[in-house]
This record gives sequence, C-alpha cells and structure tokens, in this order.
Amino acid sequence: MEGAGERDKMSKPKVLLTGRIPHDVMAALKQACEVEANREDRPMERTRILELIGDKDGLLSMITDRVDGEFMDRAPRLRMIANMAVGYNNIDVRAATARGIPVSNTPGVLTDATAELAFALILAAARRIVEMDELTRRGGFRFWAPMLFLGTEVTGKTLGIIGLGRIGKAVARRARGFDMQVLYNSSGRMEAAEERELQVEYADLKRLLRESDFVSLHVPLTEKTKHLIGANELAMMKPTAFLINTSRGPVVDEQALVKVLRERKIGGAGLDVYENEPALAPGLTELDNVTLLPHIGSGTLETRTRMASLAVENLLAGLRGDVPPNILNPEVMKNRR
Ligand code: DGY
Repeated sequence: MEGAGERDKMSKPKVLLTGRIPHDVMAALKQACEVEANREDRPMERTRILELIGDKDGLLSMITDRVDGEFMDRAPRLRMIANMAVGYNNIDVRAATARGIPVSNTPGVLTDATAELAFALILAAARRIVEMDELTRRGGFRFWAPMLFLGTEVTGKTLGIIGLGRIGKAVARRARGFDMQVLYNSSGRMEAAEERELQVEYADLKRLLRESDFVSLHVPLTEKTKHLIGANELAMMKPTAFLINTSRGPVVDEQALVKVLRERKIGGAGLDVYENEPALAPGLTELDNVTLLPHIGSGTLETRTRMASLAVENLLAGLRGDVPPNILNPEVMKNRR
C-alpha cells in the first residue's frame, strides 16, 4: 500500500530548479511541487539539465540556462517555464509558444536594485572609487595635494538614458538628486506631461551620445539592440563621457569599447554585464578607466528573494493551468498542453 508521503509525491508536479534560491521561497515551492534542485552557487551544466528535464512538468530557470527548442524537445511533459530574471534572452520564447508552453519573467521587483547599481557605477567611474581604493590599500596615499587623484563631478551633468522602461525611469528619478539634466532615447516616446513629470527630455540617439556626460543603457537584448553601441556610437561620445551598462553585455560591442578605452577616446566605463559573460573581452581587465562588476544589478538579498518568490508564483500558476501573472506569451493559454 502507498503511504501518504508517496501519494503526495505522486500527485505533485515535478519541477527542475536550476539555481539556489532563498530558503523560505524554496520551502514554499517544495510544499506544492516535487523539486529537483541545484543546491550550488554555480550554474547547472547543460548536460545535467538535459538529463533531468525529461520527466519535469515545470522549469524554474536562471539567466545562465539556454532554454531553446532542443531543450524543450527533451522535455515532453514541460508545461511551464518561469525565468528568475526580468531579461529573458536566454529563452527561445517563440519555440516555447510553438510547443504551447507558457514562459514568464520577473519584472518590477528588481527595478530599484538595478537602478541603484547603475548609479553606483556612475559614481564609481566618475570618482575613480575602485582605482582609489586599490591605490590606498597599496600604500599610495602618502600625502594630500590639490591636483592629485582627481575625478569628474556628477552633480549638474547630463545623463543620457537609453531605454526608458522601469529601470531607466528609476535611474532618471535618482538623477534628480544630483541635479542632472536627463536626456532619453527609447523605442517609444513618452507623453509630454509624463516627460515633464519625470524631468526628462527626448533626444535622438546621436544627440544623446554627443551631449551626455554619462550614457546609461537600459534596453532589453533583442536582434535590434545587439551592438546598439559600437565603434560609430562610441566615436560620437564626448572624450570625457562615461558609458554605463547594467542591461545586457551584447548591447555593446565590447571589443570596440576596449579600443576606445585603451586609446582614451572616452572618459571611462562602468560595466556589470559582458558580451560573452562570464568571459571578458581581451584587454578589459588591464584598463584603469573601467569599473567591472560580475552581473550583480539585482544582487541584493531583498531583491533576489522577491525575484524567486515571483518566479515561483508564476511557475505554480502555470502548472495549475492559470495565467501566470508575468506571462510573456499569453497566446499559448488558448490551447494549453
Ligand atoms: C535580470 O533580471 O534580467 C538580471 O540581469 C538578472 O537579475
């Protein structure tokens, strides 16, 4: 005879979780599902994921997982993919739609954390925070002198925001505290009243690049935004301007960026994301005019907890047959698996 535990296990949907998530959120997930989980702080190998996905009903994926058609064909029972990220360029949503699988992301909950980090990079790059920290640790602070260790002031400067979605707007609001003039360029232009309210001015890309002291990127990665900032765009920037990227690495042609940084054609850069992360373009780490972070835009305990909770909420809704709150392909709900 089956015990209650066995019956319970049989009736629960089977889920693969490819990254470690906060304990409380994990406990909630386990109540509803039979969970096979990566318990390490490193991405699960694709071969391992493909071995495990065959009998799973749901997938809670990370940005490091490539969830493509081949992947989905290895998962005949898969009926929900919940990505624990706002960006979902790691998932072939079209392939999921063709197979009737809903896909979700986690928008909204990481807006402030990511905007904070963009601003941290603006300040770090302008005031040479990391370089000065290293210098101080090495014993390089031997005396104060009026023209030593100078950076660039942020207050009152022009910030160019490319991509004025949730995160771009949150960066614009923070810029007010530094009395910055904010130019923006985005796929859609806002209503005049909204622009006034947010204190931002629309500019075409060329003007934004030519006039900004700081250019901050907040676009999703799509075919259109790949290498949006390449050699031509970098050449338009002021020789004193800084490029800040907390969106996705491939939005910037990283080799072209290394070249202009090496030749000191722009003031510097602050990067949280890379074209082929975790690999960095050759030469990047040798430069002192770039601040480098390991893709931690949403990396606070508060935000990662909210992202995991929202991903679980989406996953469970999809597994129940309900519309996940952050579904990316709502058309699949009409003829569900
Ligand atoms: C996202 O959510 O897209 C971030 O890049 C990872 O938190």
